[in-house]
Amino acid sequence: MTHPTGKFPATRMRRLRAATWSRRLVRETTLTTDDLILPLFVVEGTGVRQPIQSLARVERLSIDQVIETAKTARDLGIPALALFPAIETSLKDAEGREAINPKNLLCRAVRALKTAVPEIGIICDVALDPYTTHGHDGLFVDDDVVNDATVEVLVKQAQTLAEAGCDVVAPSDMMDGRIGAIRTMLEAKGFVSTMILSYAVKYASAFYGPFRDAVGSKGALGTKGKHTYQMDAGNVDEALREASLDVEEGADMIMVKPGMPYLDVIAAVKAHVNVPVLAYQVSGEYAMLANAAAAGAFDHVAAFREALVSFRRAGASAVLTYAALDVARALAGK
Ligand code: PBG
Repeated sequence: MTHPTGKFPATRMRRLRAATWSRRLVRETTLTTDDLILPLFVVEGTGVRQPIQSLARVERLSIDQVIETAKTARDLGIPALALFPAIETSLKDAEGREAINPKNLLCRAVRALKTAVPEIGIICDVALDPYTTHGHDGLFVDDDVVNDATVEVLVKQAQTLAEAGCDVVAPSDMMDGRIGAIRTMLEAKGFVSTMILSYAVKYASAFYGPFRDAVGSKGALGTKGKHTYQMDAGNVDEALREASLDVEEGADMIMVKPGMPYLDVIAAVKAHVNVPVLAYQVSGEYAMLANAAAAGAFDHVAAFREALVSFRRAGASAVLTYAALDVARALAGK
């Protein structure tokens, strides 16, 4: 008697796919609300919700509205927010000094959130671009961003944010040595529980366009770009070196960014380091999907769920996405 072999028809791959229950049972990778981080843009004022032209469905929010949105996010089960300030032009200067003002917009937002919605985690970018007239992430001297002097300012900015109550400082500036310097400061000042999420692997990308609109750094930057500090799109070995260095310097988590065009990098970094790897579905990626959905190409939430599960397959523990609320609602069946 011959027994069935592993070939058709003994093997029919469709058997496991046929019913919802069995699809659920054998699903290898899932996306849950626990995997989502919601980025928010903060502006001055009260009751303000400003649309952002290149970022459909996303608004700049005044602090009271940030709090309302944070409550919604918390109620949906989103674990954390990432905050970015869009400050008034009059407060910007070449050195980005407003970044280290303990009463600046972002610090006030953090304090208000920690009082009103203490359950939600607060992540704040460490970089000077929302605060500089030239739109660069650091101090701009002789046509380039200077590294070591910038790190000194970033350390002060991180301290200012930690003092305001921020749970996670997230340096997104790509200066060398800033993780170690920030970690040393945090330990020295008693912020032993403040986490560092290092944007260790950040590529010089066209996909940041809408974000620069949102924080008002685009016009200032002109066509120069950030190529002397952000990574070249062709490089993966360099991503692994960056990630290793930042882990050694004291990063608790590593970010890869952008996300979807760099899923291979997420997988490589995940295999290389033993800290959680997060990814950022950046503004341009979001805009591509949201605009195509708005034009009727496909369903908004279905497209985002599929895109976000690809980050999880690649190895990301969590994803920063402007679609976090839409996706969390869908996951909750709302
Ligand atoms: C700035 C910063 C950028 C983003 C996050 N932090 C833009 C940049 O480097 O120019 C991009 C996020 C997005 O595009 O959604 N340090």
